[in-house]
Amino acid sequence: MTKDILVLGIETSCDETAAAVVRNGREVLSNIISSQIELHKIYGGVVPEIASRKHIEKINQVIEEALNTAEVTLEDIDAIGVTYGPGLVGALLVGVAEAKAISFALGKPLIGVHHIEGHVSANYITNKELEPPFLCLIVSGGHTHLVLVKEYGEYEIIGHTRDDAAGEAFDKVARAIGLGYPGGPKIDKLSKEGSKDAIPFPRAHIEGAPYDFSFSGLKSAVLNYINSSEMKHEEINRADIAASFQEAVVDVLVTRTMMAAKDFGMKKIAIAGGVAANSSLREAMSAACKENGFAFYYPTPIFCTDNAAMIASAAYYEYRKGIRSGFDLNAIPNLKIGER
Ligand code: KG4
Ligand code: ZN
Repeated sequence: MTKDILVLGIETSCDETAAAVVRNGREVLSNIISSQIELHKIYGGVVPEIASRKHIEKINQVIEEALNTAEVTLEDIDAIGVTYGPGLVGALLVGVAEAKAISFALGKPLIGVHHIEGHVSANYITNKELEPPFLCLIVSGGHTHLVLVKEYGEYEIIGHTRDDAAGEAFDKVARAIGLGYPGGPKIDKLSKEGSKDAIPFPRAHIEGAPYDFSFSGLKSAVLNYINSSEMKHEEINRADIAASFQEAVVDVLVTRTMMAAKDFGMKKIAIAGGVAANSSLREAMSAACKENGFAFYYPTPIFCTDNAAMIASAAYYEYRKGIRSGFDLNAIPNLKIGER
């Protein structure tokens, strides 16, 4: 029998200070998330300086709690996985410095993880049987990518957003209709009271780039709709706007994903990132996969939004390949997927 591998994951790329202990890449022994959402809410979005400061305050406590909950000590850990990009540089640096210090003090391997590869790996936690190759739609606050996961840790991006990320569009539209930050979950909830066919918002297609996305035109269409209603002194129905906007996003995401799966001969589809928690996206993607005979995988909502268990999972597959980071590991705010 092979020895169990325990990875301590650390994630501080945005507004969650998170640490987790994961066994053999898939079994979560602890998953601690200290969210800063309440702090940033009053500003309507994440304030980088506040995020960094809060990460420093919380990181040791969060790691200690992760180890205690998992009932392990640092001595039991086989490797430390940490997000080193993309994200807010000051926020990333807190996790990277912490991981390097632990790695150096204990003489345990350090593995830098790409945040988006972490999101993809969240699927391994929820779906124990899922193995590459598969097609993954990653939709978060900062990213919208269609990626072929060819092997563990081996990715090919086949489509991406040309402007706003899907989650960013959710957050901006939510702000415009007075729902506050973060907007995704609030639009998801309010949509259930509205009609998705009430307002025909646009679906953008990019000439010559069939798998790419664009959401800034949709966001402008929503803002124009609100402005013109106000000018005509017409009452706006916020639930209808939320439902119709969400439908426009979901429609584009599902259509492109299905087209890519067929074109690239993929039989397994996964979704990842904060927007993958969206109930309408999950339902629509599930129905489309069923219709086309594809298997559909998605992480439980807690593993869709930022967490450190997904980082530990991604680090485990790197560890198995013998990939290690040096103490020169640095935060790379605009790190590209598949880059080292
Ligand atoms: O993956 P994530 O936690 O952070 C990034 O790496 O960006 O994603 C956060 C994004 C936010 O834009 C948030 O509004 C969106 O995910 N989100 C949702 C839902 N839950 C979170 N969007 C739509 N529906 C949801 N239920
Ligand atoms: Zn994320």
